[in-house]
Amino acid sequence: TTHISILGTGSATPARALTNIELAQTHNLDTTDEWIVTRTGIRERRIAAPGENTSDLAARAATAALADAKLTIADIDLIIVATISPDMIMPSCASLVQARLGAPRHIPAFDLNAACSGFIYALDAGWAMLGSGRYRRALVIGAEKLSSFLDWQDRSTCILFGDAAGAAVLGPASESASPHARILGTRIHCEGGMDAYLNIAAGGSARPLTPDNIHAREHFVRMKGREVFKMAVRGMERTCVEILEQHGLTVSQIGCVIPHQANQRIVDAIAKSLGLPPGRLFTNLQRYGNTSAASIPLALDEARRSGAIAPGGISLMVAFGAGLTYGAALVRW
Ligand code: ACO
Repeated sequence: TTHISILGTGSATPARALTNIELAQTHNLDTTDEWIVTRTGIRERRIAAPGENTSDLAARAATAALADAKLTIADIDLIIVATISPDMIMPSCASLVQARLGAPRHIPAFDLNAACSGFIYALDAGWAMLGSGRYRRALVIGAEKLSSFLDWQDRSTCILFGDAAGAAVLGPASESASPHARILGTRIHCEGGMDAYLNIAAGGSARPLTPDNIHAREHFVRMKGREVFKMAVRGMERTCVEILEQHGLTVSQIGCVIPHQANQRIVDAIAKSLGLPPGRLFTNLQRYGNTSAASIPLALDEARRSGAIAPGGISLMVAFGAGLTYGAALVRW
């Protein structure tokens, strides 16, 4: 079987940083920098400019990932965009990205919705499609402009999220600079029926937008934070233990863990329960908040650029999201 590896990564963030201090000064939001930092670890998040859309961030991240892989769009024959904030309900964000990148052939492009686990799901899908031998190289992108779906009057949710994109180029391991680089495994799960805990309820076909549901603010992200927190910790712990067991690895063999960047307390709880040695965990949620499907590829790209990931080392990525979805991936560099 052909091994598949990550040949390059890239990311993109909007220029505008919105700090906790600014949120604390927002009329009627009734929050403080201290509350946000102690409960979440987040200090600021990026907010897209008007007219700067999910597809723009996705295309920028993809362009950076192609440059990192020393490839061009002409080398790609598949595009997957994981997102819950596509530019429009239809067509897909991926079709807009494909056009923006100037893909020379009519290569397939589609969106995938697994909320904050989206990038891990897309990695699993892209890996399988390349593994089938029908495609050679894929762009796997996580991109979000969640600021468009946040209730800026709800202090329990709007402080948590931000806008960003991250991308990876997947291709034959033989094209990787490092001889042992490859995707070792992925594991994805869905614990369905949890939509009451975390959703954007209106704007879909069950509740098309009406003045009533807009008035009820049902077209924004709604979350029962405390319940989601507990389920997230439990589900991510379990997924990590399972994937390590499945591949006969122990935590001590993992050079870098890249968790979904939702909340520092969730990340700390997982590090503790896995018995992760200090310094093995990569976080950047302090600067970006929770960027949903973009969170892991953005962190992965920064981790690689900062030297936190060494050639030959093994990384574990782990995520959870609305659905509820869970996912983990093991990659050797
Ligand atoms: N500023 C000040 N006070 C606040 C704020 C705020 N921004 N937000 C909530 N509060 C208040 C609440 O009203 C509550 O007040 P009360 O006790 O008078 O009722 C109090 O703080 C405690 O609220 P809790 O919700 O119990 O606080 P908690 O410690 O659970 O922290 C948080 C809330 C940060 C949301 C936490 O539960 C969390 O991180 N949950 C997981 C969320 C998450 O990561 N979701 C990822 C979504 S993934 C995806 O797919 C989109």
